[in-house]
Parts: sequence; structure tokens; C-alpha cells
Amino acid sequence: MGTKGREIVGMNVDELLKLLNAAYASEWLAYYQYWLGAKLIKGPMKDAVAAELTLHATEELAHAQLLATRILQLDGTPVLDPKGWLEQSPCKYDAPADPFVSALLAQNIAGEQCAITSYQHLMDVTKDKDMVTYNLVLTILAQEVEHEEDLQSLQEDFELLVARASR
Ligand SMILES: [Fe+2]
Ligand SMILES: [Fe+2]
Repeated sequence: MGTKGREIVGMNVDELLKLLNAAYASEWLAYYQYWLGAKLIKGPMKDAVAAELTLHATEELAHAQLLATRILQLDGTPVLDPKGWLEQSPCKYDAPADPFVSALLAQNIAGEQCAITSYQHLMDVTKDKDMVTYNLVLTILAQEVEHEEDLQSLQEDFELLVARASR
């Protein structure tokens, strides 16, 4: 813990830690959803989509790492038990029960959109109050925005492919 670093946070640190832990929980769920989806995936374009899902999994794990570091800096404790991931995450875990390409893409697009909303909220509450967290969340948010676009563009390719094939 950095005492001065914690002192300069111009908002309730416990409230902030709750939000950071919620985001941390979501990242682990997103990581697993992507990681497993990439292994189960079936259907046209599955190799290209699996590669993207695997890359996203790696990036979600890196986000969890960044959040854990910030939580520890603020003298908090990252969620100790995986059960807490489901309890504390604002974004739900969508089991990749249907491994078809388009189903996985739709699921993960919804996940990214939830992540974007949560990080937008974290930015709103830390703006002008905690520049360190604000900056960190901005970095993560920019990547979630990229993730959403990656998946939507794959979804568009998939739809074009299916439309062509059925002509
Ligand atoms: Fe993430
Ligand atoms: Fe993401």
C-alpha cells in the first residue's frame, strides 16, 4: 500500500475498491468465457474467430492484472474466491453452451458492451478525483471498445459469407 497514493484519492476509497473489484471479477469471467469459447467453437470461419477469441482472453487477463495491481495499491484485496466473481461482476457469465460461431460472437459482443458500460461508469466516478484509476480505466476501456469492433466486424463477415452461400 502507498499511504500518500491512497491519500490523494479524492473519493471514498472503499466505494472505489468495490467498483474495482467488480470490474476485476468481470475480467476473470470474460477471460474464461473467451478462453473456453475459442476451444469449443464450430462452424464457418471458426479458425479466424478462435484466434480473435484467444487474443481477447489474453487481454482480459491482462486487464485483471492491471486491476489487481491498483486494488493492492489502494490497500484492498482482490476477490479471493472464484464464487465472488459471479457474485460481484456487473456483467454476467454467458456459458458457451452453443459453440456455433455466430452464437459465440453474439454472446461476447454483449459481454463487451456490458464491460464498456461499466468502465464508462468507473471513468465518470473517478474523473477529477482519482487520476491514476481514471487513466488505468481509460486504457482498459479503449481496449474493450476495440474488442467490440473486432467481434462486430467478424460477425459482419460471417453474415456476408452465409448470405453468399445461400444465394
Ligand atoms: Fe477487459
Ligand atoms: Fe474485452
